[in-house]
Amino acid sequence: MPVLLDPADAGFARDPYPYYARLRAQGPAVRTPLANGTHAWLVTGYQAARTVLSDPRFSNVPAPRAGRPKPDSAAERARACLARHMLNLDAPDHNRLRRLVTGAFTPRRVDALRPRIEQLVGPLVADVQARLEGGGVADLVDAFAFPLPVLVIAELLGIPEADRTDLRTWTYRVGSPADSLAPGEVEEAWGSLHTYFSELIAHKRRAPGDDLFSALVHEEREGSLDDGELLALAFLLLFAGYETTMNLLSSASLLLISHPEELGAARREGSRRWDAVVEETLRHASPLEGATWRRTTEEVDLGAGAVIPAGESVLVVLAAASRDPEHFAEPDVFRPARYLAGAGRAAGHVAFGHGAHVCLGARLARLEATIALPMLFGALPGLALADAVDAIPYRPGLLVRGPRSLRVQRL
Ligand code: HEM
Repeated sequence: MPVLLDPADAGFARDPYPYYARLRAQGPAVRTPLANGTHAWLVTGYQAARTVLSDPRFSNVPAPRAGRPKPDSAAERARACLARHMLNLDAPDHNRLRRLVTGAFTPRRVDALRPRIEQLVGPLVADVQARLEGGGVADLVDAFAFPLPVLVIAELLGIPEADRTDLRTWTYRVGSPADSLAPGEVEEAWGSLHTYFSELIAHKRRAPGDDLFSALVHEEREGSLDDGELLALAFLLLFAGYETTMNLLSSASLLLISHPEELGAARREGSRRWDAVVEETLRHASPLEGATWRRTTEEVDLGAGAVIPAGESVLVVLAAASRDPEHFAEPDVFRPARYLAGAGRAAGHVAFGHGAHVCLGARLARLEATIALPMLFGALPGLALADAVDAIPYRPGLLVRGPRSLRVQRL
């Protein structure tokens, strides 16, 4: 019988891997009691994770919310929008939305963002540098890993530079625990995002720019997105893109600072080594701990005695699957060289998911990280952690995983 899983436990948030390793040894899916009194089936092995993520009997459509509907408010309308995006849909509705968005998210369009991303990273690195001057301490999450993905999404959505500080503030607020802000601030931020995105869509209809979002607004193919779908998509791009990439940047920074030999190798060997650092960070410190919740539409037999009844909640633990010893040699060791091209190159991780919902922003996330990390560490040699590694706080919860703050100083 598995031990109770408490996602709010600080020790579990920092290092959930031993817990998941014990579950993996018990079978492809294990019915696990959660601290909130419910239970879920956790899938922690690599093969089982890929099987579940590509099986349509595991639905992405959330169960209808029990209880009375919430009173109407801008904040509630914004949250309702988020419930209508493609990650919460199954085929065939999902296919239609995904096809339209994929058409706009081409490799050419993503790669064309490189010079803009470089321009966005420059001032952030300069800001970190300024904070470190005279023996100061800088928080790499606050000053680097959080703002960059938000600014890049602002590029995708074609948000004018003058409005980006607001976007950054609202995003920060809706992503913060409610008790860390003044009463009503989170609600207000949701409402502001909803109003802003609605006006943005109206503006793009009148005056398209050359951004990805304008391309979607003016999509002329049959079945193009209506305003409600565009709004849900704007929210999805923001929320799928910022916290994940933020965790990738902060976890990679932490791993490089605490593995100076790997940082030295990346500095010496250049871009192919940085690519490997990013890939190994995705595997070793999966920015999404779990995929979004799935629900069985019928009984599913995963073998080895794991029979999941219909209507059950299932969590595919990506972080655990990417550390499956059946699939990766010495999975708990951070070793970027396993991703260097050549014979014996390690198999792909599942940090970007698998199957119908596999991440649409993977190319963009890799691009951001392989630009930003060399720029940060190139400008700031001799970075050291200001806190002990085991005192670094991690985000609680089963969905995202990464440091809440990462305080550094110059040696
Ligand atoms: C390191 C950064 C990122 C990671 C680790 C990541 C990971 C993932 C994963 C695991 C999924 C599938 C979730 C599931 O099946 O439940 C997903 C879906 C998605 N991601 Fe990402 N993501 C990242 C960055 C981004 C960025 C930058 C964008 C765009 C701005 C993006 C857009 C999306 C979208 C639109 C989906 C939904 C696809 C669908 O439902 O078909 N992601 N991502």
